[in-house]
Amino acid sequence: MSIQWFPGHMTAAKNNAEKAMEINDVIIEVLDARIPGSSVNPVIKNIRAGRQRPHLKILNKSDLADPKITEHWLDYFNGQPKTQAITVSAKNRNDIKKILPLCQKLAPHRDSSIKPLRIMIMGVPNVGKSTIINALHHKKIAKVGDIPAVTKSQQRIEINKQTILTDTPGMMWPKINYELDGFFLAASNNIGSNAYDEIETALELADVIKLRYPESISKKYGLQAPFPEDELFLDGIAKERGFILKKGKPNLEKAAISFINDYRQGLLGRISLETPSSREKMIERNT
Ligand code: G4P
Repeated sequence: MSIQWFPGHMTAAKNNAEKAMEINDVIIEVLDARIPGSSVNPVIKNIRAGRQRPHLKILNKSDLADPKITEHWLDYFNGQPKTQAITVSAKNRNDIKKILPLCQKLAPHRDSSIKPLRIMIMGVPNVGKSTIINALHHKKIAKVGDIPAVTKSQQRIEINKQTILTDTPGMMWPKINYELDGFFLAASNNIGSNAYDEIETALELADVIKLRYPESISKKYGLQAPFPEDELFLDGIAKERGFILKKGKPNLEKAAISFINDYRQGLLGRISLETPSSREKMIERNT
């Protein structure tokens, strides 16, 4: 799969983030709860390693993820040094309320208007950073949109007298380590739609969902396990949805897009594409 991983503004974002890391007290990394491993950004990981700031990992979009698997991810991240992990659905006010007190706990010495708590928020495009900032600020500040990397320049936001938040543009990495990460990010809408192949992505997505959530496929498309392999699976969806080309052939591209959208919108139920152990095995297979 060919993905243009590192557009120019993302290089600039990395440099700016490095500088900002020096003057911030807590780093928030927003992850997609459906793909917490794939949405960890190795660039952020490396910058952090040099500057060991306390780190809050927010597993966002938890309303779309499998709650049991999200628990495993929380245990996994909470076992890492100087790291606290929580699950959030940015659309839920009570979830948002958990964020600032936790950041304060991570840097208790920064608690006044003279020494305000300085927080930096990072994460791959479209993971929900702007939605979280808007909810924290009770105002629409950052631009929210479903096009990855829509937030382009860093901005400093005064949340209250004691708290300053720096937003960074969506950051991706120069090189993807594992092909599956690319497919998971594409399926979850973290990569611009011109940068991946819909059919290939839908088939990789289908492989995971067929295996782990077969009932969601039966319920949504009326297909029964064992499900058709490869493009025959998309063929089944195309027929079920009436996506037929002029010459009577199934429109596989339309079926692929529709399947990906059903996953993105949670219409297949709450789905997690990876667990800490499935990720570990995937890494072993690829090294
Ligand atoms: P970014 O700044 O990291 O690039 O992401 P942004 O906040 O723009 O969010 C990207 C999309 O993800 C938005 O959808 C937003 O509503 C959605 N989103 C953010 N957090 C959550 C969450 O916890 N759960 C769910 N289900 N969706 C979330 P959009 O379609 O562009 O906007 P909207 O029509 O949903 O408002």
